[in-house]
Amino acid sequence: MSESTETRPGTASATTSDGDTILEISDLRVEYATNRGAFVAVDGADLAVRRGEILGIAGESGSGKSTLALALLRLLKPPGRIAAGSITFRGDGVPPVDLLAMQGRRLRALRWRHLSYLPQGSMNSLNPVMRIRDQFADVIIEHAPERKGSVREMIPRLLRQVGLETRVAQMYPHELSGGMKQRVLMAICVALEPDLIIADEPTTALDVTIQRVILQSLADLRDQFGVSLVVISHDMGVHAQLVDRVAVMHAGKIVEVGDVHQVFDSPRDDYTRGLIASIPRMDLLDPTTPAEGPAR
Ligand SMILES: Nc1ncnc2c1ncn2[C@@H]1O[C@H](COP(=O)(O)OP(=O)(O)O)[C@@H](O)[C@H]1O
Ligand SMILES: [Mg+2]
Repeated sequence: MSESTETRPGTASATTSDGDTILEISDLRVEYATNRGAFVAVDGADLAVRRGEILGIAGESGSGKSTLALALLRLLKPPGRIAAGSITFRGDGVPPVDLLAMQGRRLRALRWRHLSYLPQGSMNSLNPVMRIRDQFADVIIEHAPERKGSVREMIPRLLRQVGLETRVAQMYPHELSGGMKQRVLMAICVALEPDLIIADEPTTALDVTIQRVILQSLADLRDQFGVSLVVISHDMGVHAQLVDRVAVMHAGKIVEVGDVHQVFDSPRDDYTRGLIASIPRMDLLDPTTPAEGPAR
């Protein structure tokens, strides 16, 4: 079945257009309609995610990080609108597709199985009246009905993979702490072995010790499944501890992208330098130090 890559505008050339790149965003522009005209929330973004890497997206609140994620997942709602650009996704075993040219069923077929999303504030997205195991089963059966027969065996394994006890499967969300709920959602995200997970502020609103556990679990997912990850966080400490490369957003623009050590050691952009200067140094240097939450 040809997924009509020929309908692609053919502009997705950015940085490294080969099989090592799982996602390639070119010249993406996203606007919100306001009564004072269009507000440009993402302004000409170019970004490539390499297969198997953890890419961080940094930048203070309001810089356009979540808008970028929603646009690439095609989950942006009005008054938001994708005004320009192309986003090429190269999942395993599927032809390269321009996510912006996809609709309906074809897009749904990619979700969870190839492209998975951990939304900002997702801890509150679990259904309060359903046991955790039924929430797993819902996602698996809806998106991979052929696995219906194996759901019962899958759940304990998935829970263990994010460091949770298997008895969590019987519980309701209110019986879990925030960090446990976040880990349940991470386990649901990897249930169908996606190629790429986009996690938006996965540690925000969790206390520092739990943040470290979540960061470790995210790193483990990459190591165990070879999944690529995009981790969005306003917190530079998260990037310092977790990511391979980091892209810095400021007022809708990506002002700097590079290897995380290079960006932290010798930032090229003044804005990046300011962000780095705002992190408590101890948090960066010694991951075992029970640091205060970095400044927001
Ligand atoms: N629904 C919306 N309508 C209008 N403006 C919005 C909407 N959602 C976000 N914005 C604006 O877009 C900008 C980027 O927001 P967002 O992507 O949420 O940033 P971040 O995730 O980096 O905090 C902000 O200025 C925000 O006010
Ligand atoms: Mg956000």
